[in-house]
Amino acid sequence: MGTRRVLVTGCSSGIGLAVAARLAKDELRRFKVVATMRDLRKRGPLEKAAGDSLNKTLEIKQLDACCEASIRECVNSLPDRRVDVLVNNAGVGMIGPLECQSIDAMKNLFDTNFFGLARLVKELLPDMKQRQSGHIVVMSSVMGIQGLLFNDVYSASKFAVEGFCESLAVQAMKFSIKTTLVEPGPVVTEFERKVYEDAEKMDLSGTDEETAKIFREVYLPYSKKIFASLGQTPEEVAEQTVKVITAKEPPLRHQTNRLYMPMTALKHADPTGRLPLDAFYKMIFKHDSVFNATLGVLRMLQRSAWKK
Ligand SMILES: NC(=O)c1ccc[n+]([C@@H]2O[C@H](COP(=O)([O-])OP(=O)(O)OC[C@H]3O[C@@H](n4cnc5c(N)ncnc54)[C@H](OP(=O)(O)O)[C@@H]3O)[C@@H](O)[C@H]2O)c1
Repeated sequence: MGTRRVLVTGCSSGIGLAVAARLAKDELRRFKVVATMRDLRKRGPLEKAAGDSLNKTLEIKQLDACCEASIRECVNSLPDRRVDVLVNNAGVGMIGPLECQSIDAMKNLFDTNFFGLARLVKELLPDMKQRQSGHIVVMSSVMGIQGLLFNDVYSASKFAVEGFCESLAVQAMKFSIKTTLVEPGPVVTEFERKVYEDAEKMDLSGTDEETAKIFREVYLPYSKKIFASLGQTPEEVAEQTVKVITAKEPPLRHQTNRLYMPMTALKHADPTGRLPLDAFYKMIFKHDSVFNATLGVLRMLQRSAWKK
């Protein structure tokens, strides 16, 4: 296989930045990376991470996932419009009680997380079909498999992404195009900082006192503990994304965090949905000590996995 051109969205920080830098520095020089971001003034951290690969195996271009014209302009600027691998990574988060979130904010989230993907695929799929090759890699989430308390809208957007890719994958296969959903658990990036910052500022007057209390006093501390115990680095997710991209037979789904797998496995273990529902309910509302002990064990496992 020759050099493949990989277009990555959302490279100003976090996973997108790490994936772009990792691919550009590939020792075997298998990739030409088109690292895109909506605001080029934020290119500094990527330029630093890219180092010597900048303007050699990595070029930075503007692309806003919410703007069809900017997607087209970016793709048109590439030789033969050729993109061998799309890494659709741009995404935003949202947490909190539903009653405190406006429909406009929900639509904006879907505009990036779901319609952003739809726009990019619409732009690239016809060329990929014509060439009978290509790989669509989508940064989904474990929340695209299993919903989580106070993540209703974010999770819904990732479910949308999962349904979209699962449906598309069959047609894509007919044209020898591969589809992969990368499903990270918690990853320590700007994403986490932004959602917690928004949560601290959130006006909770739209909901009842009990819900506000559960959000502040139960959900937020739990969620922060989960990030601290199970959180991966963007570089770890990037490493696994490269493995997926270079696999001979890439999987439709790839979960990046083995420690999170027991939570998603519950979903498949009981088609009625009762098992995960009960497990999450008990973990969050009934068994604080079990939850903390479990996280302690997982933290130890995580540390020993890193040492290996
Ligand atoms: N962090 C986690 O725990 C986690 C877990 C599972 C999945 N994910 C998924 O991983 C992906 C990357 O998230 P991250 O953790 O790396 O967060 P991040 O550091 O906040 O990065 C998100 C990136 O998306 C960009 N972006 C947002 N809206 C965009 C738009 N309309 N057009 C183009 N770029 C846009 C951001 O650009 P700006 O700097 O301009 O805002 C930023 O570069 C997301 O799809 C997220 O849902 C994250």
